[in-house]
Amino acid sequence: MKGRFITFEGCEGSGKSTQIRLLSERLKKEGISHIVTREPGGSDIAEQIRAIILNGKNTAMCDECEALLYAAARAQHLREKVQPELEGGKLVLCDRFVDSSLAYQGYARGLGMEFINNINSFALRDFRPDITLFLNISPKAAFERKHGADRGDRIEQLGLGFHQKVYEGYLKLAERYPERIVKVECGGSKWDTAENIYKILKNKKLI
Ligand code: TMP
Repeated sequence: MKGRFITFEGCEGSGKSTQIRLLSERLKKEGISHIVTREPGGSDIAEQIRAIILNGKNTAMCDECEALLYAAARAQHLREKVQPELEGGKLVLCDRFVDSSLAYQGYARGLGMEFINNINSFALRDFRPDITLFLNISPKAAFERKHGADRGDRIEQLGLGFHQKVYEGYLKLAERYPERIVKVECGGSKWDTAENIYKILKNKKLI
């Protein structure tokens, strides 16, 4: 079977990491071979770029630099890790991908989605996920659930107003790319959400 690339998106505290872990555990039990990775990061060089981007001391970083570093980390991660796994027929679960740049840098930072699409087209050569699962929970509800932001993380520190814009950006993306982005409602327990995700992927024959 050809490889499949599944990305997870959402605001901070939306439960992406938990959902990826629950899905991975279930896939393991079913003997479905896969890897779990994340952005920014996922390979040695991309993790080094991640450390620069998220370092809370780098307050002088301009928005353009931030957007280009995310795209650079993505290009490296894709070429070094994701593409070889997909070519080997693997299922790849990735915590965040290009939609994070569109929502955070394009929409919330105000650089514009077209600009972000352009630099990422260069970085990715129009490579896109097979499906993107957007965990649909507002930042206010998500922060309450995780008891506030991580103070050492440059992006988490930006406050609720910024994260509300990120959320709006995601909703716009879900409207713009309905064939790829699926909204996953997160009102129930983490087990309910996990079951929803599993069913979506089964129905689309991705697992
Ligand atoms: P994480 O907390 O999900 O590991 O992601 C790291 C932070 O980087 C998070 O605040 C979201 C942000 N981010 C962007 O702003 N743009 C991007 O392209 C990516 C991948 C992450």
